[in-house]
Amino acid sequence: MLSDSMEEALNRQINAEFYSAYLYLSMSSYFESSGLSGCANWMKMQFQEEWMHGTKIYDYVVERGGRVLLEAIEKPQSEWDSPLAVFEHVLEHERKVTGLINALADQALDERDHATSIFLQWFITEQVEEEATASGLVDRMKLIGGDSSALLTLDQELATRVFTPPASGA
Ligand code: FEO
Repeated sequence: MLSDSMEEALNRQINAEFYSAYLYLSMSSYFESSGLSGCANWMKMQFQEEWMHGTKIYDYVVERGGRVLLEAIEKPQSEWDSPLAVFEHVLEHERKVTGLINALADQALDERDHATSIFLQWFITEQVEEEATASGLVDRMKLIGGDSSALLTLDQELATRVFTPPASGA
């Protein structure tokens, strides 16, 4: 059974993951209105990933006999100065999420909640990948600079991203 404090912390993380989903959907909408449908697709896949993250924690809380209490999702930003600014925001946001996951993992260790520690390993690994992907896209956007044909080439590449749910059925 989850401690009250762990249940509260996991509930907060569910909200944080759903906020991430909302933020990326807002970024997708920004790109749709900017004529970059490939970037919009990439963000929509990111939205689905974050939704899956929130649901994965939801299912874990239920499995441990806890109670999920959904809170309001904060309104996300809707305008950015440039495509580069959006991807810089993604990287900054993912670094913040990594901090939240690490704090949760610290709490699980402090409480000797081994099941939650093991559960969070997946998220720790996922954050390494999320930060690396975002950082790579920021680097490429910086290289592109004001070259619109290079931007359209990247946009075409990002149009191919698909969301594949994990085999575990998370
Ligand atoms: Fe759920 Fe992008 O971290």
